[in-house]
Amino acid sequence: MTTPLLTIALSKGRIFKETLPLLAAADIVPKDDPETSRKLILDTNDPQVKLVVIRATDVPTYVQYGGADVGVSGKDVLMEHGGEGLYEPLDLEIARCRLMVAGPVGFAAKSGRLRVATKFVETTRRFYAAKGEQVEIIKLYGSMELAPLVGLADCIVDLVDTGNTLKANGLEPVETIAEVSSRLVVNKASLKMKSARIKRLIQALQSAVETRR
Ligand code: ADP
Ligand code: PRP
Ligand code: MG
Repeated sequence: MTTPLLTIALSKGRIFKETLPLLAAADIVPKDDPETSRKLILDTNDPQVKLVVIRATDVPTYVQYGGADVGVSGKDVLMEHGGEGLYEPLDLEIARCRLMVAGPVGFAAKSGRLRVATKFVETTRRFYAAKGEQVEIIKLYGSMELAPLVGLADCIVDLVDTGNTLKANGLEPVETIAEVSSRLVVNKASLKMKSARIKRLIQALQSAVETRR
């Protein structure tokens, strides 16, 4: 049997950078650097493997609909997407951070319905619904830390790693919603049709993850 073409979806920046050494351990080396190239489909050393470089929030969608066979996506993005149509066989243990509630000191003492600014609308809605708390959610696309400073919201739900961004804006972490790292996701049909190739990839990535522990 001939080897099938395998398309891997990645986002620029942090995930691309941290996935590179894992892919290298699986004998996949891109021929272009997405930070400098304008190409959206990158060739690799393996003619049967292509990388597509897309926005982080689009990775689950591409993989769900088969625009890519596999992808690398943050758990935060997967929680927000819902994971429909996706297998999540491997925690790559990269791009680690936390999805947290944060706000100015003492904001929680406010009476009445909290206003929460976030780009993680679905996850935030589920989080407060599970606590039986009524909140108003304000959808933003970035720089959530600004919202409490200008009175747009009482608090935020955002990613926190070192805590430097919170501290620089006078905010403090309050509660963890989820521990986040990036996961390998696989299209369900691809897993059946390209089973041997994808299992080989999963195994190579898994041993690379274990070696790095
Ligand atoms: P975006 O342009 O969507 O913000 P990023 O490359 O910043 O893309 O984030 C991609 C993923 O990396 C996120 O979905 C999250 O899982 C993780 N991540 C984001 N910010 C951090 C951080 N400060 N430290 C570690 N991991 C992070
Ligand atoms: C992410 C996240 C926080 C920050 C947290 O932003 O949205 O703002 O990192 O990291 P810290 O706790 O170490 O400060 P990112 O650097 O991805 O910038 P972005 O606004 O371009 O997404
Ligand atoms: Mg970011």
